Amino acid sequence: MGAVQLSGKVVVVTGASRGIGAATARALAGRGATVVGTGRDAAALSAVMCEIGGTAILGDVRDAGHADDVVRQTVGAHGRIDAAVVNAGVGYTGPFTEMPAERIDELLEVNVRAPMRLARAVLPELARHGEGALVFVTSIAGVLLVPRESVYSATKATVEAFAELLREETRGSGVHVGTVAPGAVATDFFATRGTPYDRSFPQPIAPEPVAAAVLRVIEDSVERAYVPGWLRGPTLLRRLLPRGYRALSRRYG
Ligand SMILES: NC(=O)c1ccc[n+]([C@@H]2O[C@H](COP(=O)([O-])OP(=O)(O)OC[C@H]3O[C@@H](n4cnc5c(N)ncnc54)[C@H](OP(=O)(O)O)[C@@H]3O)[C@@H](O)[C@H]2O)c1
Repeated sequence: MGAVQLSGKVVVVTGASRGIGAATARALAGRGATVVGTGRDAAALSAVMCEIGGTAILGDVRDAGHADDVVRQTVGAHGRIDAAVVNAGVGYTGPFTEMPAERIDELLEVNVRAPMRLARAVLPELARHGEGALVFVTSIAGVLLVPRESVYSATKATVEAFAELLREETRGSGVHVGTVAPGAVATDFFATRGTPYDRSFPQPIAPEPVAAAVLRVIEDSVERAYVPGWLRGPTLLRRLLPRGYRALSRRYG
């Protein structure tokens, strides 16, 4: 139910100027979808959209009217929206009490408020055709809850909870809501958050497998995809043996 065959369909991808969003935009175009990509970096976004024949919408997801603008412009240009990939996001790592207040606001606005606003703007348009998909790119941090990433983990956990409840609300409407929770991915994410990725394990993966998981969520109505797939193991351990999981996490990071 709700599965979308992508050829000829119109898909909005937020944060399509680089990283996971750009890889997802390319993968969607490879399936024959028309992509509308968003971002602030005009040069990077137009390079990706030119490459795949997509449409660029420039803007900051923190702006109050942005989500409505994206939906209005996309429907104006292409007549419809069949799926949306809510991917734009920012991270932060470090002790919570040293986290600047403006970074807390940024994470809440970009990672939580903007996805909710876009969902609110796009869901009626998806439901109009009786078939559609809404995919949130969350993070394994939102499921495992990573130390020193308290605000980031909380934002992604919020979106996981939000998506689960939206899936219930949209049940029967033909619109599928799913999430993709990646582990470490080799993108500009770590440079943008201001702290390099410093774990020896697991090594960051390429963004393409994450993009492939986004397509599976849309095409096969997957509810939550972990990338890489073995990350499901620690999530089960945490759910079944929370104290044991936390002890292991303290010991091995
Ligand atoms: N990389 C990882 O290890 C990892 C792991 C788990 C989850 N994730 C999640 O995956 C998603 C994509 O991250 P990524 O790794 O691809 O990072 P990235 O390479 O830094 O890309 C982030 C994207 O988000 C957009 N963005 C950020 N702030 C924005 C704003 N205020 N307004 C509009 N667009 C904004 C950026 O566009 P502009 O710069 O053009 O505005 C960019 O396209 C995020 O939600 C992140 O939390 C990443």
